Amino acid sequence: MDVLFLSPAYPPEMAAFTRGLAEVGARVLGVGDSLPEALPPALRGHLADYLHVPRIMDEADVIRRVGGWLGGRRPTRIETNWEPLTVLAARMRAAFGVPGLTEDVVIGFRDKPLMRERVEAAGLRVPRSERARTRGEAWAAAQRIGFPLIVKPVAGAGSADTFRVEGPGGLDAVLDQIRHVPEVSVEEFIEGDEYTYETLCVDGRPVYESVCQYFPNALVARQNEWISPIIQSLRDLDDERVAPGVALGRSVLGALGMGTGFTHMEWFRKPNGEAVFGEIACRAPGANMVDLMNYTSDVDLFREWARVVCWGRCEAPAARPFSAAIVFKRAEGQGRIAHVEGLDAFRRRHRGAIVREELLPVGAPRRDWKQTFLSDGNLVVRHADGGEALRIAMDAASSIHLYAR
Ligand SMILES: Nc1ncnc2c1ncn2[C@@H]1O[C@H](COP(=O)(O)OP(=O)(O)OP(=O)(O)O)[C@@H](O)[C@H]1O
Ligand SMILES: [Mg+2]
Repeated sequence: MDVLFLSPAYPPEMAAFTRGLAEVGARVLGVGDSLPEALPPALRGHLADYLHVPRIMDEADVIRRVGGWLGGRRPTRIETNWEPLTVLAARMRAAFGVPGLTEDVVIGFRDKPLMRERVEAAGLRVPRSERARTRGEAWAAAQRIGFPLIVKPVAGAGSADTFRVEGPGGLDAVLDQIRHVPEVSVEEFIEGDEYTYETLCVDGRPVYESVCQYFPNALVARQNEWISPIIQSLRDLDDERVAPGVALGRSVLGALGMGTGFTHMEWFRKPNGEAVFGEIACRAPGANMVDLMNYTSDVDLFREWARVVCWGRCEAPAARPFSAAIVFKRAEGQGRIAHVEGLDAFRRRHRGAIVREELLPVGAPRRDWKQTFLSDGNLVVRHADGGEALRIAMDAASSIHLYAR
């Protein structure tokens, strides 16, 4: 089993997927733009071979170089878990005759308007939305859709240039701010709580499922620096609060023709209980959510993903004995972390519940909270009682303070 794995060193959790592949018996052929001498030693130990490419986003160049490097070898699988490389992986599979998700399927997970069209065509609930290229088109769409609404780039990521518009008085100001965006999506604003739905799938059939909730909704967390965002995994997927979202998610996988691998979906739960589709990707979730799922069931999903793509089986337990919550902290002030308050007292209150502390150490430069959801570090807590796990996470959010100078 030779697995060609794209970008084994970046983002950092790709090293864990590489480890998973090696652990289930694959020979991992890595391809990335990190210099070989810059690869962490542990990662190097999990790679059978490595090709350095100068520009990983230059698809034609990567395919040409990989073709020369492989010579007559044909990998059994070509995989990635990094969103910008999912289409490249599909093109490489086609070029080298390797099974896996086709380009047409991957595009359905990449192109948001196409994704929505396919999901809606399957009779599933999506926010009403229209594409707009000009101010006139945006106004016409807004009048048809009604306020409040969301304006966001058609090709967006990380909630960049995404705005909620309360009423007609706010639309021109938002359109002024996003003049550099060539094409926007004008959408019905869905009021409600925001959840995720993750799966490991074998031939489109979920063999592992998970649901998490964002506190607060992702857009609010990404636009307010003072907030310590929380993501919480839920234990009971049959609970009436999340069952409609799980049902929606399973149908979406069918509508988009999912094959084998990880998926990560975002959905809204309206106050009346209705589940509304947000978006979906055919890769693992970011924001440390694989770790969060691992703490939920004491499982190693980096390895289970590898088992799924290599051998079509999953050994993850179905039981979810814990609800785990990750709290992302953002320091107050600019520069380097100078001191931390409230951590010792928090530890004393919740010793048994804390499973990970990864706050930036004193002296470390602050991260750019707009660029990375990981912010200035995180804590993970878990508890058998979901309400208690959330209460402890909220305590970390409000009582621990990082200061920078
Ligand atoms: N129609 C909508 N109604 C309500 N909220 C929305 C809507 N569309 C987007 N949002 C909010 O904006 C956030 C970002 O939107 P979306 O996930 O579509 O874009 P993104 O830039 O790909 O985000 P990310 O990369 O952060 O997942 C959502 O997580 C949600 O909180
Ligand atoms: Mg999103």
